[in-house]
Amino acid sequence: MSEWHPASWQAFTARQQPNYPDQDALAATLGQLAEMPPLVTSWEIESLKQRLAAAQRGEAFILQGGDCAENFADCRAPVITNQMKILLQMSLVLLHGLNRPVVRLGRIAGQYAKPRSADMETRDGVSLPSYRGDIVNSPEFTAAARIPDPQRMVQGHGLAAMTLNFIRALSDCGFADLHHPENWDLDFVRHSPMADEYRKVVDELHSALRFVGTLGGTSGDHLNRVSFFTSHEGLLLPYEQAMTRRPARRSHWYDLSTHLPWIGFRTAELDGAHVEFFRGIANPIGVKVGPGMSHDWVNALVERLNPENEPGKLVLIVRFGASKVADGLPPLIEAVRATGREVVWMVDPMHGNTESTDNGYKTRNYDNILSELEQSLTIHEEMGGHLGGVHFELSGDNVTECIGGARGLEAADLVRAYKSQVDPRLNYEQALEMAMAIVRHQQRTR
Ligand code: PEP
Ligand code: CO
Repeated sequence: MSEWHPASWQAFTARQQPNYPDQDALAATLGQLAEMPPLVTSWEIESLKQRLAAAQRGEAFILQGGDCAENFADCRAPVITNQMKILLQMSLVLLHGLNRPVVRLGRIAGQYAKPRSADMETRDGVSLPSYRGDIVNSPEFTAAARIPDPQRMVQGHGLAAMTLNFIRALSDCGFADLHHPENWDLDFVRHSPMADEYRKVVDELHSALRFVGTLGGTSGDHLNRVSFFTSHEGLLLPYEQAMTRRPARRSHWYDLSTHLPWIGFRTAELDGAHVEFFRGIANPIGVKVGPGMSHDWVNALVERLNPENEPGKLVLIVRFGASKVADGLPPLIEAVRATGREVVWMVDPMHGNTESTDNGYKTRNYDNILSELEQSLTIHEEMGGHLGGVHFELSGDNVTECIGGARGLEAADLVRAYKSQVDPRLNYEQALEMAMAIVRHQQRTR
């Protein structure tokens, strides 16, 4: 295999990339980006890897979640705060119910690029480049809006930095203090069918923390604060390349745009540019795995992306769909085991369960999402392994994009608050309910 460097992917076929009409402007922008401060540090990345290694051993649980695609316009305090709140609440429920540390990983602060099924979109006989996420172009169906603009990468970098700055500030102050989960209450908690169950979790955790504080004589910092990591699909390779640096006194290259970048389902070909780029960075990385990927393919990815078999390095984010997971997952686990290599197994119960309603909405049914999740938990347990974590598309707001859940949302309700430009997200209540369902499932089967 030829030598890796941050630009070596350019000799391979890169799928899902925009066609920038002005190559000089692109080169100038990338030069500018490469000089800009990184968004995360290699220390944080290594710390995340340690935590993922714990999840690989079954000693921690990963909660990865956020928007399908972040919009630039949603870089606003209430949106970010609500996203933090729902992830913190879910992690509290999981921590309490599973009795394991929870690794919080947002699809946030950079989840701006989207793969699309076609390069062009045609409406009423007019064809324009597809919308590829705010870091590439704009969703309005006009020629001007759809031209890929490299300056959007600089804008995305800035907005990701602002988002991360706010997340760090919130994590550092009282907001993310485990002793004060009331800070995370979303309005709905008071009148939700799950209010009592959630309150009980909070009260029990509170007593446990007080007890530990009493024992230790002090409530150590590590107990007060929660840590929060970022992730996004590393789709737009010129951007990821520009953010890839070799920090002082490190011998490896790190993609410093995010803690954990992942390779999407549509860009995981072995001989493609994404796999080439990802094989050289020291970050922990994810790969989406789903129907149609052969065991040989997945095993080759496992070998290529984690040649040293480093713990916590490679996360397989499996997304078969509720009707395919029972047939697909067990032989896949067997096949990976046969290589002698270890991975972190996660489930993304969203992307294999997308459907369309008669009234024209792209949606997902709560029951199918939960079913894939529960089947995955059971399969890993029955095979003597662990599901290391879950991956959701969710919102801290009261959107109506997925059907089902405690309030029984139906197709006719989707019109009320369908905001996603791309995939349907669980709303805050459905998301919290999902965390409780994971705990209930584990307690039933223990
Ligand atoms: C996504 O995570 O938004 C996505 C596009 O998923 P996948 O690559 O699994 O299709
Ligand atoms: Co999606």
